[in-house]
Amino acid sequence: MSEDALFPLELVQPEAYDAEPRLIAPGAVHVPGWLTSEQQRWIVGRFGEWTQGPVPLRAATLPGGRRMSVRTVCLGWHWQPYKYTREATDVNGRPVLDFPDWMVRLGRKAVADAYSSVGVVDGTLADPAEDYTPDAALVNFYDDGAAMGMHQDKDERSTAPVVSLSIGESCLFRFGNTETRTKPYTDVELRSGDLFVFGGPSRFAYHGIPKVLPGTAPTDCGLTHGRINITMRVTGLS
Ligand code: SIN
Ligand code: MN
Repeated sequence: MSEDALFPLELVQPEAYDAEPRLIAPGAVHVPGWLTSEQQRWIVGRFGEWTQGPVPLRAATLPGGRRMSVRTVCLGWHWQPYKYTREATDVNGRPVLDFPDWMVRLGRKAVADAYSSVGVVDGTLADPAEDYTPDAALVNFYDDGAAMGMHQDKDERSTAPVVSLSIGESCLFRFGNTETRTKPYTDVELRSGDLFVFGGPSRFAYHGIPKVLPGTAPTDCGLTHGRINITMRVTGLS
């Protein structure tokens, strides 16, 4: 009997995966399959260019000396624990790449699509969507065994939403609360092409990536292994 017959696709689909946009917490929306495979492949191509420098993909070193397992390249502003700088002073001192215009447009569409897909019309969330102008992106690469502990994105001076895009292997995304690193939280599977937006009451929620699921990258996404995650943010810096 062939492997396909032994392991039919529907049996290996994790039950937790949502096919429809879902409000995970107030202000936090998961939109499965938001990027087409063509868009994913194109972004993977850009990722290859970004990692050529001037600042290479690097694992940030946390205060205390521990190195993150995720490697990052930044656009617009360089993030290092725990601040934004124009030059990568913790890597090679070189200036960070510009934040591309196409990504501003993509971020705007992401916020508008995410909130409208779940019928959010509350002004505090919908207004920023009109002129959402991200100026920093952290582009993370998760290689074998990479994970990210529970943390808040709080080095920005703006409360505008964070836009997250995933390409490559699926992962478990743990989306928690604004008070503690622990429960209550919701575990969401993020797959290649998925969009996740968190703003409004969820903007400063703790979140993390307990694990990436090896071997789950779709053949047409442009990545054969590993996971790319792009988070766009509005720094509020000038
Ligand atoms: C992050 O919180 O910066 C990354 C989230 C993710 O990889 O999906
Ligand atoms: Mn984060």
